[in-house]
Amino acid sequence: MAEVTPYKTGESKKEQVAQMFDNIAFRYDFLNSLLSLGIHKGWRKKCVKLLEVNNPKIILDVATGTGDFAIECVKLNPNKIIGIDISEGMMKFGKEKIEKSGLDKLITLEYGDAETVNFDDNSFDAIVVGFGVRNFQNLEKGMTNLRRVLRPGGKLVVLEFSKPRNGFVKWGYNFYFNKVTPFVGRIFSKDIRAYTYLPESVKAFPDNEQFVTILKKLNYTNCSYRSLSFGIAAIYSATK
Ligand SMILES: C[S@@+](CC[C@H](N)C(=O)[O-])C[C@H]1O[C@@H](n2cnc3c(N)ncnc32)[C@H](O)[C@@H]1O
Repeated sequence: MAEVTPYKTGESKKEQVAQMFDNIAFRYDFLNSLLSLGIHKGWRKKCVKLLEVNNPKIILDVATGTGDFAIECVKLNPNKIIGIDISEGMMKFGKEKIEKSGLDKLITLEYGDAETVNFDDNSFDAIVVGFGVRNFQNLEKGMTNLRRVLRPGGKLVVLEFSKPRNGFVKWGYNFYFNKVTPFVGRIFSKDIRAYTYLPESVKAFPDNEQFVTILKKLNYTNCSYRSLSFGIAAIYSATK
């Protein structure tokens, strides 16, 4: 898989990704809602619904960013939700939101890298990752480590952008993602690269069946995916 990085400097993808999210953190929630017209909220809700049957009590939200997925997981009535991310800038806004909602006893956000995650084996009943896996420097290393900290029988739910297959949708999507998104993103986030990196990284990501194949190869079981909104995003689920 070709490595797509935000700034094309000599730093590692991980350093560039953390830098980029630090840069855009102050506008992340606003631009998410504007650019997706609020659709992203419904997608996270669908992911959380998939976990209801498992009744998870200890949940890990990987690449938590500003914490929206962690906050949505509160609906599952767990005992603890831990969010990890490599961007302190994103988590600063997440922590503020969590404190304001009075959820700081239930949800903690802390620095953590999916690829070197240092929790004990079998620590979590469920793991969620929203729009994070595409940004991992080493996707397989990340997914392997997440499996390690998931308990046997625990469920992984990944939400990620994907490439639509239908010709007409593809045309509209390409125009929106390659032209509108970078233009609006540049104006509001003041980071010229962040919103051109977005379509580039989606294009390079092994989506749908390809990601399911990777999960199977890494010994996840019950691996499947479901396309959302004409194929512009997908939910992947798997168990350990
Ligand atoms: C697009 S944001 C998604 C935030 C949030 N999950 C959501 O649903 O809105 C992607 C996040 O992934 C984080 N990230 C990228 N690589 C990571 C890694 N290896 N470990 C942990 N977080 C990572 C970034 O810092 C960023 O905050």
